[in-house]
Amino acid sequence: MKGIVLAGGSGTRLHPMTLAASKQLLPVYDKPMVYYPLSTLMLAGIRDILIISTPEDLPQFRRLLGSGSRFGVSFAYAEQPRPEGIAQAFVIGRDWIGGEPCALALGDNLIHGDHLSTLLRAAAARPHGASVFAYQVRDPERYGVVAFDELGRATDIVEKPDAPRSNWAVTGLYFYDARVSDIAARIKPSARGELEITDLNRVYLEDDSLHVSRLSRGYAWLDAGTPDSLLQAATYVQTIQSRTGMLVGCPEEVAFRMGYIGAAELLEQAQAIGKTELGRVLLELAEEHAT
Ligand code: TTP
Repeated sequence: MKGIVLAGGSGTRLHPMTLAASKQLLPVYDKPMVYYPLSTLMLAGIRDILIISTPEDLPQFRRLLGSGSRFGVSFAYAEQPRPEGIAQAFVIGRDWIGGEPCALALGDNLIHGDHLSTLLRAAAARPHGASVFAYQVRDPERYGVVAFDELGRATDIVEKPDAPRSNWAVTGLYFYDARVSDIAARIKPSARGELEITDLNRVYLEDDSLHVSRLSRGYAWLDAGTPDSLLQAATYVQTIQSRTGMLVGCPEEVAFRMGYIGAAELLEQAQAIGKTELGRVLLELAEEHAT
């Protein structure tokens, strides 16, 4: 399975911070925001990753991420000239996807929790249909919202409803089978002029092949699109890391734990950021496993 990190958009809710800088390169505590969704895809076992951003910002992503070899993965890059919707990722990425199954992670979303890798790998391994994750929120009207029947099956999915039928929001992490590019190509822009990811998901729902996993309260899902949520995400990462000594959203660590790089490569990465606390934790991890 391939994966896309969508890191364009206009970031208007973070103006003036995003007037001259990409939202997904802003810091979330000790790492650039894009590291978090990137780590999520890598945890799902995905190593072929397309980064999509605006023509202005894409060079900065290339500078930060390079070929991917230092994380034991391969990055490709593509421009989204205008923010014409999340589902457009599959239109832009069509040739690169090459008819394979493909996941999508939004560049400003952070998911964290116990056994996340198992959950993600199960979604990535499902050969037919689409898998999305729903999370209970206080403000569902800001998101795509799923309604369930009494047996827990998804019955409806609506983008930013005025009167939400549940408080289960669809998170910014989606897994699709090989049909995704063809389906995305047939979607028409919505009233706000965007190719809506909810419309793509609805095609799978109507085909009876949308799998919705409800994330329990043991998981954290944060999006960092407003000043408050950006601060909350940073505080969350800082709290977990300083309290447990475990890292959140660190691609070097994920690469090592998933076996994409060895202890020698990890050591090299740790030394490159050696002056930081992050570097120190990675160094410890590399030394623990050095033979
Ligand atoms: P949003 O947060 O919905 O949009 P935005 O980033 O443009 O921000 P704002 O609402 O403040 O103007 O987008 C969710 C994620 O998807 C975010 O990481 C940006 C990305 N995105 C794109 O890359 N291209 C798009 O066309 C859209 C709609 C979103």
